[in-house]
This record gives sequence, C-alpha cells and structure tokens, in this order.
Amino acid sequence: MAGLTQQLWGVEFQSPVLLASGTCGYGQEYAGLIPLDELGGIVTKAVSVEPRPGNPPHRVAETPGGMINAIGLQNVGLERFREEKLPWLAENLDRSHVLVNVVGHTADDFATVVADLDDAEGFLGYEINVSCPNVKGGTLFGTDPEALGELVRRVRGSTDRPVIVKLTPNVPDIAVYARVCEDAGADGLSTINTFPGMLIDVDARRPVIGNLSGGVSGPAILPMGVYLTWQAARAVEIPIIGIGGIRTARDALQYVLAGASLVQVGTALFVDPDVAINVHREISTYLDQQGVARLADLVGALETSGHV
Ligand SMILES: Cc1cc2nc3c(=O)[nH]c(=O)nc-3n(C[C@H](O)[C@H](O)[C@H](O)COP(=O)(O)O)c2cc1C
Repeated sequence: MAGLTQQLWGVEFQSPVLLASGTCGYGQEYAGLIPLDELGGIVTKAVSVEPRPGNPPHRVAETPGGMINAIGLQNVGLERFREEKLPWLAENLDRSHVLVNVVGHTADDFATVVADLDDAEGFLGYEINVSCPNVKGGTLFGTDPEALGELVRRVRGSTDRPVIVKLTPNVPDIAVYARVCEDAGADGLSTINTFPGMLIDVDARRPVIGNLSGGVSGPAILPMGVYLTWQAARAVEIPIIGIGGIRTARDALQYVLAGASLVQVGTALFVDPDVAINVHREISTYLDQQGVARLADLVGALETSGHV
C-alpha cells in the first residue's frame, strides 16, 4: 500500500495508523490478535522512573459515546520496561515503529527516563505525556507554557531521537502550547489526550470512578480532537499525530485533512481489536476511489474557501 507511506523523522511509516498509548499495553498484549507489524506503529503505555500501581478501582466505565478511565498511569517502571518490554518490541516489530510514552512528576523524571532508555534498541522516539488528567499534577506541564517550554528543552537536550509532545485539550488556546513545543525543539505533536469528566451512580449517589474523575475518550471526543488538531496544525510546521475517537478511515481522514500526518486509534480497540488495521486498509480504498496517489497529499488539504 505504497500511497499510505509517510516519511517522518528520518524514517518511513508504512501506514499512518498507530495504536494510542494506554490502549495497547506494551504491544505484546496484542501479539497474535492483530498484525502489529502491518501498522504504522504503537505507542507504549506511559513509562515513569519508578513502577506505579495506578488508581483504586473502578478505573474504567463506559459512557454513551465512549469511555472514561482513571488508570492512574499504572506501569512497570523504567527498569522493567527496559529489561522486559523493549526487547520483545525489538524482536517482534520489524516494520512498524515504537514510540515510548514518557511521564514524570518533574522535568528530572522525564529526562531520567529518556537518558536511561536512549541507547536501547526497539524504539524510534518518545511521546512526552504532559496531558494525563487522571493523576495529581498530570497536566501540570501541559497547562503552563513556561514549564512546558523548559521541559521540552530539557528532554530535547537528553536525546537525538524524535521528541513528540502529547498535548492536553484542556487549555484555552492549544496553538500557544503547540508553538511553545516547536520553539523548544520538539519534533512533533500528538493531539489530543483525554478530557476530564465524571460519571455518577445515582442509586449509590457516588462517583463511578474510584479516582472520582477520569479522562473521557472515544467517539464523543472526535469533533474536539479534529478541531484542536486543526488549530495546532495551523500554528506550527512540525508534524502532528491526530488522536481522539477514531473508529473508521473517514474519522482518520478528518484528522489528516485537518493537518495530521499520522493518527492513533485508542478506545475503539476495546470494542474491536481489528479496528486499527481496518482503518489502515480502508484509507487505501479511499485513496483509490478518490484518485489520490499519496496520503501525504491530503495532509492539511482542508478546503475552507466559501466558508466564513
Ligand atoms: C485506558 C486508557 C489508558 C490511557 N493511558 C494513556 C497513557 O498512559 N499515556 C497517554 O499519553 N495517554 C493515555 N491514554 C489516552 C489515549 O492515548 C488517547 O489520547 C485518548 O484515549 C484519545 O483517543 P481515543 O478516543 O482513540 O481513545 C489512555 C486512554 C485510555 C482509554
């Protein structure tokens, strides 16, 4: 599927479709279930310096248009990730790329994870998570332009690999944060992480989620994700990965037309693990039907003339 390839960050992505952080574990969980090596790649669960146990249950619940989660960045920690998870990825993924989602309480934490992993095999670059609404301080960096710039400069100085910053939708103007990242040396942006939300069990008169609130994802957030991707794409030159509510090729193509070079599929995987590979294949069908030779020609190709 030649038309689907994207050249970014010095490598070729054979497909524009990646699996979103936190919805595909460390890849191994989907082995044998879906052809991971046919996709553009996967983004690992967040990796922090120390292992994290995550939040108390319930951690997930279904919503009318998707789900709410407060996993709380549960992860195996840097050491086990490097010793157990990365070798599996290095051995089993030849053609699809791996981005390591990184999280920390301080800039030092982020830099420690990056510096420690940097000489390991099995991944292309980093997705810096400054946008988790489910843990205390999870969006601290993502909502303060000054702190965000400092963090990105710090991470940038710790690696030559691609640094992609995953932005939160919970800011008044995402273009400001996009520009801060670009100016600080980021190679790309992921837009967007989840929106904060709450579900209440009216019989128990208690919050459904143990953490009280959580992050909302799935089809309900698609229009917001497309809009915020469009706003970010207009503000910067660096490539963007569009995320939020993607279930079909046409959902993914909305992100591409808004300015995304790649997309990630998350919540939809919990309904149907084949959804990402189907999106990939159906984008190819769309290109054939429309007579478009390369997906790259559609990136940011939204036509707005005649609109106000
Ligand atoms: C269960 C769950 C866990 C997640 N964990 C992470 C995470 O560790 N790091 C991160 O950057 N985003 C995480 N996310 C956010 C997703 O990567 C994605 O940005 C968001 O869910 C929107 O995409 P979707 O609507 O396709 O799910 C998580 C989402 C879900 C549903």
